[in-house]
Amino acid sequence: MYQIGTTLTQYIIEEQHTFAGARGQFTGLLNDIATACKKLASLTKKGALVGVLGTANSENVQGEIQKKMDIISNDVFIEALENNGHVAALASEEMETVYNLKVGKPRGSYLVTFDPLDGSSNMDVNVSVGTIFSILRAPVGIENPSAEDFLQAGTQQVAAGYCLYGPSTIMVLTTGRGVSMFTLDSSCGEFILTRDHVKIPEDTKEFAINVSNQRHWELPMQRYIQECIEGKEGVRGKDFNMRWVASMVAEVHRILTRGGVFMYPMDEKMRKAGKEGKLRLLYEANPMGMVIEQAGGLASTGRERILELQPYALHQRVPVVLGSKNEVQRVVDYHLA
Ligand code: AHG
Ligand code: MN
Ligand code: MN
Ligand code: MN
Repeated sequence: MYQIGTTLTQYIIEEQHTFAGARGQFTGLLNDIATACKKLASLTKKGALVGVLGTANSENVQGEIQKKMDIISNDVFIEALENNGHVAALASEEMETVYNLKVGKPRGSYLVTFDPLDGSSNMDVNVSVGTIFSILRAPVGIENPSAEDFLQAGTQQVAAGYCLYGPSTIMVLTTGRGVSMFTLDSSCGEFILTRDHVKIPEDTKEFAINVSNQRHWELPMQRYIQECIEGKEGVRGKDFNMRWVASMVAEVHRILTRGGVFMYPMDEKMRKAGKEGKLRLLYEANPMGMVIEQAGGLASTGRERILELQPYALHQRVPVVLGSKNEVQRVVDYHLA
């Protein structure tokens, strides 16, 4: 039980006590992540004033043209994490291979995967963006962990969360004992606990999906959305609302706040392009899946629980359906029917 107003620093010192054999590394690691997020909150706020908007002349392993902030935020994360002896290696959306620490840097007991800037297409239009992170245990006694060491199921995550850079900067964290939200108080530079034991309403009237892909969707998704759109007059007997921020962090945050269902399903266009979904398992779907489940929601591919998937590649993609329990269950039922 934490008091609203507790600082993130106090909170993570207490959480550390729940890990057997903990040696302060976990506290240190979460502090490093918080430091990176504070820097990114500051940079995203300054925007054009510090020249961080616009596109870089490079492509990432996903085949996306990188935004300047994709690269900057990746560098900010590496800088905050590689010097303090809390991590053994890193993996990110913006790096093709595992990032191993330089020779001589102290090795820690954790692996971190991260999406340094989620929703980066929103940067230039001044709409919410975020950072997503997942913490795994590193293999013992290995100097330079490999990609295989990162291929752990989502159920193995020690902690996961995200930081949303919106009207306020909000860090959302789970260590497997519920979900807590911290708001950055820029006057003292601390994240302050502003909501604890977050629970997602089981029912909802709000869905989030990129409808421009509708013609490519599989039949179960066509059916689900069609029924939502039919509203009161259809089989659902209630009207639905729709939102699409194009930033998963913002969508998940809305769902944690007032319920809803977020979908980036598999479709024919992706199948033809040899893709298994849009979102990435290790640094988008798994950490968000853990947060959603810890808040009482469900996270599925439409057919399987995301957190139980055995990963086979660092940048593996998956279909994602997550949010309010009863609504996600309905989507899954349609897929399995
Ligand atoms: P990223 O900016 O990290 O590459 O992630 C973008 C993701 C996700 O945040 C969002 O839900 C989705 O892609 C947006 O997709 P559309 O471009 O189809 O709107
Ligand atoms: Mn991207
Ligand atoms: Mn992303
Ligand atoms: Mn990203």
